[in-house]
Amino acid sequence: MDNKILDEVKEKIVLALDVDTIDEAKKLINELKDYVGVFKVGLQLYTKCGNDIVKFMNDNNIKYFLDVKLYDIPNTVKEASRNIIECGASFFNVHALGGYKMMNEAVNAANAAYFKKTNQNKIKPVVLGVTILTSLNDDVLKNEFHIENKSENLVLTLAKLAKEAGLTGVVASPLEVKKIKEACGNEFKVLCPGIRPSFSVVNDQKRISTPRDAIQNGADYIVLGRAVTKELNKVETMEKIYKEILNNGK
Ligand code: C5P
Repeated sequence: MDNKILDEVKEKIVLALDVDTIDEAKKLINELKDYVGVFKVGLQLYTKCGNDIVKFMNDNNIKYFLDVKLYDIPNTVKEASRNIIECGASFFNVHALGGYKMMNEAVNAANAAYFKKTNQNKIKPVVLGVTILTSLNDDVLKNEFHIENKSENLVLTLAKLAKEAGLTGVVASPLEVKKIKEACGNEFKVLCPGIRPSFSVVNDQKRISTPRDAIQNGADYIVLGRAVTKELNKVETMEKIYKEILNNGK
């Protein structure tokens, strides 16, 4: 297989380090680093290991995404965004439902802190807006929140708002990527959780697709979590996923 094509796939793979200890995270990183472009430190690991995991990633030059989904008043999110960059992360997210001002202050604070650190403004931090979680669907929106609008429409509204506020892109279901790219342009990044290879179980996710379909629809990043990390042979599972992406498993 052409190395360039494999590298293009690898760049898109985000592995969720949803474990409780740095040792478990290290094990996953060592085992899967050849297949993963970005490792994701989410709430499970962050609330247990906090800045130790961030320090470990920084010290070892490992590309990571701090998936802390900030959601608070604009001033609090602004200060937290600055702290995130000062701590060494350059890829994180906020909830788009926090509104224009919150997102705009987050991205401005992140850019300013990054500029202060790197003394250049060509490369900027990646700040993504979470749209509607992939664990929710139209039934939940209707029954729990009394929102009659379709999740897809809400996602598009939030993606457009995130773009206006200056964010790098959004987190959305793979089912919505095409429409987001049409509305916000190809440069606007879309990271997709809710990824389930054809051979894996769905768990609590609702708006899902296979890795291959997500990438074919334009996803810049796909998040792999339990579909890989809960498997006994993780490398073999990754190989299967690469095969599915590259030639539909044939
Ligand atoms: O195991 P699974 O593939 O379902 O994991 C998905 C990962 O992506 C989890 O770390 C979860 O926090 C994250 N996620 C997300 N946004 C969503 C859904 C899941 O960031 N809408």
